[in-house]
Amino acid sequence: MNCWYVAAWDHELIDGKLLSRTILEKPVVIYRGDSGAVVALDNRCCHRGARLSNGRREGDDIRCMYHGLKFNAAGKCIQIPGQDNIPPKLGVRSYPVVERQHLIWIWMGDPAQADPSKILEFNYLSDPKWRGKPDYMHYKANYLLIVDNLSDFAHLAFVHTKTLGGSEEYAYKSKPTAIERMDDGFRVERWHLNSDKPPFHKKVDRAEGKVDRRNIARMYVPGIFFMETLFAPAGQGADKGNLQNAKQYRNCQFFTPETKSSTHFFWDYLHDYDLNDPTIALSLNKSMIEGFLEDKFIIEGQQEVLDADPNFKMNAIVADAPLAHFRRTLGKLIDAERAALQPAAA
Ligand code: FES
Ligand SMILES: [Fe+2]
Repeated sequence: MNCWYVAAWDHELIDGKLLSRTILEKPVVIYRGDSGAVVALDNRCCHRGARLSNGRREGDDIRCMYHGLKFNAAGKCIQIPGQDNIPPKLGVRSYPVVERQHLIWIWMGDPAQADPSKILEFNYLSDPKWRGKPDYMHYKANYLLIVDNLSDFAHLAFVHTKTLGGSEEYAYKSKPTAIERMDDGFRVERWHLNSDKPPFHKKVDRAEGKVDRRNIARMYVPGIFFMETLFAPAGQGADKGNLQNAKQYRNCQFFTPETKSSTHFFWDYLHDYDLNDPTIALSLNKSMIEGFLEDKFIIEGQQEVLDADPNFKMNAIVADAPLAHFRRTLGKLIDAERAALQPAAA
C-alpha cells in the first residue's frame, strides 16, 4: 500500500474528463481542475454512494449529480443544497497525487508517508530528444504474474519468436544472465553480439547487416520496468564504447493492480533517431502491442489455471533467479509494512 503507483497518463485527463478507475480495489475518480492541479478522490459520494465520476466538475471541485453534494479537491463536503449546516467531517477520502513526466502517480496507503521524492524518474518521457507514443493495456491477471513474466528472459524465444525475440534457438544458446540484485529490485545487462535485427527493429531500420545489441533492464518494486536498448552496426566495438550510428530505445512499463486478479498496464517505447518521422513511434507501438498480446494470452490463461486449483505448486528452473529475487524483495517490504501496522491495530 505504501508506495507510488501510476494511476493514469496525463492525456487521459484532457477535456475535463472525470476518469473512473479502480486502483488496489478502491474506486477512484481522477480529474484535472481548472487550476491545473490533478485531483484523486474516492469515487463514492459519502451521501448514498453514487459515483462522483458521474457528477460534474466545478473548477477544482466536483459535484455529485444525484443530490448535489459538492466536494473540494481535498474531498471535504463544501455544499449541501437546501441544508445550511455542513457537518465538518463530512466528505470523501482524497489521495495524494503527483504529476511527473506525463504520468499521474497516486499514493493509496498512509498519506503521511507519501513522499514524492520516492517516485522513480523516467526523464525520457519528457525529453525532446526522445519520441514515443504512451499507451495503456488492461490485463485479466494479478500484476505479479506480469512482473514475473518481465523478470523472465527465457520466455522471449518461445512467446515472442516472430516479434520481439527473434528465434527459438536463442533459448538454448544463451547463457544464464548475471543479475545485479538491489534492495528495490534488480538490474540485468545483456549483450548479443553479431545478431540479426529482431523483427520490430527491422521494420523501422531496413538497412542490411548484423547488429550488436545491448539490453539493460531494471525492475523495481512494486511493478516498474525500465529497459534501455541499443543497436549498433556489428563489429565496430559498441561494447567498448563506440556508439557511432547506434540506434537506441527506451521502454517503461508500469503495473498497477486494479484488483487481485486484474491489472492496469501503462507503457511507452521511445526512440532517439529520425524524430521528425512520426511513423517510427507508431510502428514500434504496434510491434510492442503485438508482443504484449502474446504475453497477455499466456498470462491470462495462466491466471485461469491458477484460480482453478489454488493448491497447484510451481517448480523453479535456473532461469527464474531474477524473478525469485524480485518476489523475495517485494515480500520483505510487504512484511515490513504489515509489521508496522500491528502495534497500531493492537
Ligand atoms: S448520493 Fe451523492 S448527493 Fe446523494
Ligand atoms: Fe514478453
